[in-house]
Amino acid sequence: MANVVIVGMQWGDEGKGKIVDLLCPAFDGVVRYQGGHNAGHTVKFRDQHFSLQLIPSGILHSGMVCVLGNGMVVAPDAMLSELARLYEAGVRFDGRLFVSNRAHVLLPCHAILDRAREEAQGAGRIGTTARGIGPAYEGKASRYGLRMVDLFAPDLEDRLRVLLTRIQAELASLGSSEPLPSPAVYGDLCREWGEKLRPSLRDTEQLLNGWIKEGKCLLFEGAQGSLLDIDHGTYPYVTSSNSTTGGACTGTGVPPTRIDGAIGVLKAYTTRVGGGPFPSELNDATGEFLRRRGNEFGTVTGRPRRCGWLDTVAARYGQLLNGVDAVALTKLDVLDDFDEIPVCVGYRLGGETLRNFPPDRRSLETAEPILRTFKGWKTPTVGILEWEDLPREARDYIDFIEGEIEAPVTLVSTGPRREETILRSHGSLDRLTSGRLGRVLEQR
Ligand code: GDP
Ligand code: IMO
Ligand code: MG
Repeated sequence: MANVVIVGMQWGDEGKGKIVDLLCPAFDGVVRYQGGHNAGHTVKFRDQHFSLQLIPSGILHSGMVCVLGNGMVVAPDAMLSELARLYEAGVRFDGRLFVSNRAHVLLPCHAILDRAREEAQGAGRIGTTARGIGPAYEGKASRYGLRMVDLFAPDLEDRLRVLLTRIQAELASLGSSEPLPSPAVYGDLCREWGEKLRPSLRDTEQLLNGWIKEGKCLLFEGAQGSLLDIDHGTYPYVTSSNSTTGGACTGTGVPPTRIDGAIGVLKAYTTRVGGGPFPSELNDATGEFLRRRGNEFGTVTGRPRRCGWLDTVAARYGQLLNGVDAVALTKLDVLDDFDEIPVCVGYRLGGETLRNFPPDRRSLETAEPILRTFKGWKTPTVGILEWEDLPREARDYIDFIEGEIEAPVTLVSTGPRREETILRSHGSLDRLTSGRLGRVLEQR
């Protein structure tokens, strides 16, 4: 029985939500391990359309357990609104949604500070989602944060006083005049949220490891992408958590010895939202065409996503960090209209050719992409379900990607909907789905 991590191989928005939803029938539960409501995961099937931020994409499958792990930062107000929206849409989650007692609480003051910092930075801003993610993880690392279990602590208000004093001091230093509520006001809010969420709160590391012992299969749903990882990403233009596969262990309490594999989600081109280096970016009409054709606008903030060609230097680095057994290549159909499709296969920097992703911002900002051009297929691939039905040029493009990142492209996504996916019969997919691939195909 396989426990598998699904991870973004680029800068996020690769289509993780779609792939998680597609593979759910092969698993018993879906677990988020990092991030918060900065994530925006889109799931579409038949005429249904959902956008998930904190809640694992598995919630749309009745009978599936869903867990928000200890590595997340959870805004109770955002979570309650998301649950209300899901309920309104007919989704029922009683008894199958669990939140770690050890997950950190993201409060409105974290978002106020996030916004104030971004405003103060001007052109040098990170371009965060303004949800308060950075400040909430900082509180955790600085050891004055509140965890879910602390919503019921007898000294809640004292702890809130410390937290608010720290945040207020930084706000003042940034010239922000936004007043924060008193510890008593926040205390009442926290207790109210705590009561509403109490039925879901658990020691999730006990739950998860218990389920694994019983032979259940878990899918770990990554948020953001590998190049936004706080350690391995394009620092400082990153998020504040470990979005690579390693985060699945620290963010859930499931040990590495219990994880059986990983699937990397890779977009057939590249996008990124917010600031930071992006060597294969297209600041021209072609980039604009990709944005419109791919509907590349943020799920959370609505911001236009920056677009560029596939970058195999970045993707190989993603593979190095995640060691995925299989790749799900998404949005192939977005490339249908191009005569030629360039791919960045190396960086030229100061007379040298780089094949490995450099650690420093300046190199990434000045690197010139070395492009290899593929012939376009100029025919619709939308909704194709069989590998053999793909145009030869598209298969050549995918074969090249497999060779570059040294991992099999086992799923090919040919449209936003669950139904629009090619599943290739590699042995890896049978193993990763614990022999339940038939169920996935049935529901596709
Ligand atoms: P995530 O954050 O990785 O889950 O990705 P998002 O949901 O933020 O962004 C992916 C977007 O691409 C969503 O609007 C999906 O509906 C859409 N999408 C996913 N796969 C495909 C595909 O193969 N083709 C097309 N055209 N759209 C896709
Ligand atoms: P999903 O899960 C794309 C980006 C922000 C910003 C940086 C830091 O949908 O792939 P933060 O608010 O996390 O402090 O912002 O990270 N970012 C994402 N970009 N997809 C996401 O999530 C993202 N979550 C954060 O745009 O550049
Ligand atoms: Mg997204």
